[in-house]
Order: sequence, then C-alpha cells, then structure tokens
Amino acid sequence: MKEIRTTITAIGKYTPKHILTNFDFEKMVDTTDEWIRSRTGIVERHIVEKGEATSDMGAAAFDDMKKRFGIDPLDIDLIIVATITPDMFFPSTAAIIQHSIGAKNAWGFDLSAACSGFLYALAVGSQFIKTGQHKKVLVVGSDTMSSITDYTDRNTCVLFGDAAGIVLLEPAKEDDDSGIMDYIVKMDGIGKKYLYMAGGGSRNPSTHETVDKKMHYVYQEGKPVYKFAVNKMADAAVEILERNSLTGKDIALFVPHQANIRIIDACANKLKLKDEQVMRNIDKYGNTTAATIPLGLIEAMDEKRIKKGDIVLLTAFGGGFTWGSALLRWGFNYG
Ligand code: UT7
Repeated sequence: MKEIRTTITAIGKYTPKHILTNFDFEKMVDTTDEWIRSRTGIVERHIVEKGEATSDMGAAAFDDMKKRFGIDPLDIDLIIVATITPDMFFPSTAAIIQHSIGAKNAWGFDLSAACSGFLYALAVGSQFIKTGQHKKVLVVGSDTMSSITDYTDRNTCVLFGDAAGIVLLEPAKEDDDSGIMDYIVKMDGIGKKYLYMAGGGSRNPSTHETVDKKMHYVYQEGKPVYKFAVNKMADAAVEILERNSLTGKDIALFVPHQANIRIIDACANKLKLKDEQVMRNIDKYGNTTAATIPLGLIEAMDEKRIKKGDIVLLTAFGGGFTWGSALLRWGFNYG
C-alpha cells in the first residue's frame, strides 16, 4: 500500500485590530523605538481587546480559512491547539474552539510547546493523517501573550504580540507530491531556568503572594535564550536539509519563528539564503509565540512568495526548551 502523505490544504489567520507601537512603549517604560527596532526588529504588535481570548482568535482564524477555502466545520475530525495562553486551565481551548466553530464531529486537545507549538502540533497532526485514522485535522497556533505580559518590565513587554494562525491537514492526493516531507522536533528541559511563567500552576498555585511577586507573568533571561535559539534553530534547519539531500538553494522560502530579527538573520546566513528566501514579518507583529509560523506562511501565500511545488523550510525555538524544523512541499496556488 502506498504511504499516505500529509499536506496542508487550507490556511487562515487572525490578528487583533488594536496596535501597540514602539512609540507607545516609550510612554509606558524606559525604552526607545531605536532600541526595540535595532535589538529585536519589532516596530509594532497587535493586542487583543479586553475580554478577547485565545479561543476567540483561533475561531476567527478558522473563519478566515472558511471564507478563503470553503471548509465545512462538520468535516473536521481533530483540532489541535498549540498555545501557552489557553482561555483557562480546562476545558481545553480546543474544546472551546470546537464549540464556537460548530465542529461537532471533532475531538481535540491543547499542546504546550511555547514558540515551537505550531511545529509540534503539525508533527502530531500529520501522524493522524498518515495512519489513515483521520481525513481532516485542524492545527491552530494561537497565543494571547498580552495576558501574561508585565507591561512595566521593559525586558519582556516590548517583545510580544497576540495572533492566531490555522492550517488544515489532509491526505495528499495519490498523483500529488505535495506535503510534509520531513520534520525534526526536539526538547531540552534545561530551558525551564531561563524562560517560564512560575505562577498559577500546581507548583505555585495562584495566591495574593504569587500575584504580588508577579509570578503570573512571563519571565525570560534574554541572553542565554538568544544563544540557544540561534544555535538550535540553525542546527535543526541544517540537519533537516542535509538528511533530505537539499541545500539552502533548494528552498523557495524559509519561514522561521519570529522572536528576534537578529536570530532570523543569523539562521538565514548559516543556510546561505538570499533575502527574498526569508520570511520576516516580526516588524508588524512581534513575537506571537505559536502563531508566528502560520502567520508567516499565510502572508507568504498572500504575497505570492510561495506556489504549488515549492519547498518551504520551517524552523522554531521556544520555552522548554523546544525546537525543531519541518520541510514542506507546498500544495496549492492561492488567489
Ligand atoms: O521566542 C522564544 C524564545 N525567545 C527568544 O528567542 C528571545 C531571545 N532573546 C532576545 O531576543 C534578546 O536577548 C532580547 C531582545 C530579549 C534582549 O536583547 P539583548 O541584546 O540580549 O539585550 P540584554 O537583555 O542583554 O540587555 C542589554 C541592555 C540591558 O541594559 P544594561 O544592563 O546593559 O544596562 C537591558 O536592561 O538593554 C537593556 N534593555 C532595554 N533597554 C531599552 C532591555 N530591554 C530594553 C528595552 N529598552 N526594552
């Protein structure tokens, strides 16, 4: 029997309307537009309205995909939501999205791998297609980072934005060579020291004290995380190319996680990529955690930077530490 290959057949996105610029931050903390731009590449980021949560963004991304590709929610078998900012501990964000989009026949779950969440979820979702168990799997990357950001801490508050991206996974047609060619997913728990949110979980359940100590906010030691991110993202990208007998020249587009423009540029240099081969949109959105990669993919599609048959390289790095890469042969032309 021929092996079933998983391919992306539809994609959608949502970014909240409200925008926070670097100049807004100049009024909030001791920072400058120049520092943020030169150290991170970020110019502005989108932030949810009060009351808007991760499931709302995920459902809105599904609506965008439905409008573009005409998906019937009743056909969906499984919903995987990559997020570290779920609406609540339980029920899962996947269950909340399932209900709000009317995907009555789907089961689902949340997956926690921080900025590598979308890549992890893609790897997991692709297995359910490959085994023949499911025909339509939704992979959502949605994070409301503003809900865990301390807007008095200049080290972290300028970095993050809110957004959601979504893809539909299906079996590739027999005569179609598109699909997920390969992936690498890795983890090293040493990352817990450098990037975490300590409060609210079973180790430090929420109390007045945990809130007073600001333990409900993301904490990051930027420098060590930066070093790990540059090395691990580049290593994973090189490894996946080498084991598929490819080089940077074969890649139509590199879509890296958007945490810092300097990390993106360092990876692109290591792969010897030209500027036009690299997706950079951190200037508009900041670090949207699990949403950066689907957001990069859909923008590339809308800007006609990827077409059917193109090889696309994805790479991410995030809290845990978690990291990895995936190689896709893009399956369709859009617009
Ligand atoms: O997405 C998942 C993984 N996360 C990442 O990949 C992020 C990796 N890390 C980074 O991107 C960078 O480390 C940051 C952008 C977070 C920080 O950049 P950096 O060049 O590593 O700066 P730093 O943390 O070493 O700070 C340098 C200086 C410090 O001042 P002193 O101690 O030298 O006087 C900071 O206090 O810059 C200061 N600083 C700021 N200054 C103005 C830190 N944040 C700001 C700010 N505005 N917003």
